[in-house]
Amino acid sequence: MGPMELDPSIRTYYDRGKEADRLSGGFPSGPLELARTKEILERHLPPPPADVLDVGGGPGVYAAWLADRGYRVHLIDPVPLHVEQAAAAHGEVTAEVGDARALRGADGSADAVLLLGPMYHLVERDDRILALREAARVLRPGGLMFAAAISRFAALMDLLVRLDRLHEPEIATMVERSVTTGVFEGPGEAELFTTSYFHLPRELAAEVTAAGFAAPDLLQIEGPGFLVPDFENRWADENRREAMLQAARWVENEPEMLAASSHLMAVARTPA
Ligand SMILES: C[S@@+](CC[C@H](N)C(=O)[O-])C[C@H]1O[C@@H](n2cnc3c(N)ncnc32)[C@H](O)[C@@H]1O
Repeated sequence: MGPMELDPSIRTYYDRGKEADRLSGGFPSGPLELARTKEILERHLPPPPADVLDVGGGPGVYAAWLADRGYRVHLIDPVPLHVEQAAAAHGEVTAEVGDARALRGADGSADAVLLLGPMYHLVERDDRILALREAARVLRPGGLMFAAAISRFAALMDLLVRLDRLHEPEIATMVERSVTTGVFEGPGEAELFTTSYFHLPRELAAEVTAAGFAAPDLLQIEGPGFLVPDFENRWADENRREAMLQAARWVENEPEMLAASSHLMAVARTPA
């Protein structure tokens, strides 16, 4: 495998085309992840119009939403199916096949860069730093970067509490490795994900600053609600849905709670 090629197991996983409906319920807590990610983006992004580069943007759920709000969005993803889906998702979104580690965009050409995916799949630290450095390069001075990561303990919590599979020997071996090394060799079943890297919060912050950004704000995305049993029915109930969102907001930037979410977000700026 060449240095800029996508791991074949990751490619096979996404080629099945299941990513497009993940956030709308294909993965149970997807709607919570979607709602919270949107509120974090809305809170920080400059007002439209502004140039947003959505790196690892997948089928374009966030890209289409941002284009609707008047942002100029260009999406990059290594999976051709995702690029096609993203271009079809919104007439104003432009999309191309590419890799977070080697962007084609010019220096200083974006007001904001989204990395909501690449950090999950770059298992080597050097590759993650390359991706973050590329984000810094294409941003204007004082530009904003949003980097999502999966929590080091996401699989541990999900497989023990929600999926009730931690007692299966093969699952236990995978989860133990993820907890001790961050590397998760998911076998590609939809509920078990594929090859990925799970961050400790302090590790995510250190990688962002090592790539030339100011110290990031770290936030929980879903908060503890991602573990709620019977998620779909509880999310459909307005009061319970609001309670899940409120729980996330109450603790979103509490350092002692950061890793107790499925996803984390680092929000950082390039030097002005
Ligand atoms: C879980 S999906 C997230 C998609 C979308 N950003 C979202 O948040 O819904 C992860 C995405 O990262 C992409 N990806 C994996 N490795 C990448 C890389 N080296 N550079 C850019 N994107 C990558 C995958 O193709 C996939 O579309």
